[in-house]
Amino acid sequence: MFACSILAIVLVALGFGQHARAQGFVGNCTWQTGLMADSFLGMYCNNDDWAHFSYQWTWFDTNLCLINNGGSLIPYDTGNYWPTCRDFSVRGSNVDYILSCTCYQPDGKLAPTTYDLNRVLSNQNGSLGCFGHEGNKTEAGPF
Ligand SMILES: *[C@@H]1O[C@H](CO)[C@@H](O)[C@H](O)[C@H]1NC(C)=O
Ligand SMILES: *[C@@H]1O[C@H](CO)[C@@H](O)[C@H](O)[C@H]1NC(C)=O
Ligand SMILES: *[C@@H]1O[C@H](CO)[C@@H](O)[C@H](O)[C@H]1NC(C)=O
Repeated sequence: MFACSILAIVLVALGFGQHARAQGFVGNCTWQTGLMADSFLGMYCNNDDWAHFSYQWTWFDTNLCLINNGGSLIPYDTGNYWPTCRDFSVRGSNVDYILSCTCYQPDGKLAPTTYDLNRVLSNQNGSLGCFGHEGNKTEAGPF
């Protein structure tokens, strides 16, 4: 019985890992020069048109991906977390892209929280997106 429960937990963890790997953009976008402007995340991402292969600047509204769940950020379609959180910062690496902020809890106090945007956002042919939403893209970025 105990062994079965452990196995179930391991299988769930593996399944979740596969789902997480299907997302992701840090491998194909220049997270080093990514930036947040209000709830919008912008960076250069490459497209999969190998004939016209290039990095294009994309803007995407992260409000479409996360919700403030009682003071913690969790993935949620059109979650609109941004109005109830503040003090945003982002920190990227080759494996993750961490959004840190403080979010209001039901008691009205702010709680620090983080979420790895690389687990919910993906690069769809040069546009950042999540839950079927897609950002815009343009040849010329801000720099
Ligand atoms: C990068 O983009 C290429 C072309 O779209 C794709 O085949 C590859 O899986 C992507 N890699 C990552 C890490 O997203
Ligand atoms: C991918 O993006 C490139 C460049 O923006 C575009 O030319 C191409 O048509 C796109 N491919 C698909 C399948 O949308
Ligand atoms: C992309 O979206 C951003 C944020 O809404 C906007 O400021 C920008 O003008 C848009 N760019 C294009 C090419 O549509």
